[in-house]
Amino acid sequence: MASETSDRPTAFTERPQRQALCWRAATLTDVPLLARLNKELTEDERHRNSAQSEAWFAERMAALLSGQYEAVLFALDAGVWTTVAYALYCPVAERENTVYLRQLYVLRSHRRRGIGREALRLLRAEVWPPGARVVVEALAHNAAARAFYEALGFAEAYVGYELGQTQAGATDLVERQTSS
Ligand SMILES: CC(C)(COP(=O)(O)OP(=O)(O)OC[C@H]1O[C@@H](n2cnc3c(N)ncnc32)[C@H](O)[C@@H]1OP(=O)(O)O)[C@@H](O)C(=O)NCCC(=O)NCCS
Repeated sequence: MASETSDRPTAFTERPQRQALCWRAATLTDVPLLARLNKELTEDERHRNSAQSEAWFAERMAALLSGQYEAVLFALDAGVWTTVAYALYCPVAERENTVYLRQLYVLRSHRRRGIGREALRLLRAEVWPPGARVVVEALAHNAAARAFYEALGFAEAYVGYELGQTQAGATDLVERQTSS
């Protein structure tokens, strides 16, 4: 069974303090890539949307990017662009200078090397408005995401509850208010 630290690469005994990372704004031409990565994200967090097709994710991602949401892609080398992570976010309408980070995903092969941490630093330093408050949600059972956000200084602000039928065969599955 996977443990909280199962993403740690065994090949890396020493990791750099800060992973060099570059970013670019995603456009609608990136929707197929984002859809694939979004599906992987939902598989990793065991969200019920993970059963949906890539076409479903693509349609939804296109709708999100055509509305309030923006996405940023991250790579290790801008010269030979290979996406290793992405973030999807939007402003929170009712809260001044607040960003809702809906999705943050680092490729499975690239985790525990500081990419998520550096991606968030870049978003705050170069992408989002200065001093913006950042709001994220994590599924209660997503121990890796919770450990990640807490390691970066995020504090638990509220707890969500649900009452209703659980999907057959997925008794440990909950769904947050806004789906991944
Ligand atoms: C959560 C996620 C973005 C973290 O990305 P990452 O690049 O592996 O994170 P980092 O290497 O920058 O980790 C920074 C710190 O967070 C903590 N952390 C990250 N992953 C962790 C894990 N699996 N278990 C325990 N702590 C973890 C550690 O303190 C880590 O520092 P350390 O490696 O020096 O111990 C990545 O695991 C991911 O994409 N998960 C699937 C998608 C997801 O759940 N996204 C969040 C909800 S939308």
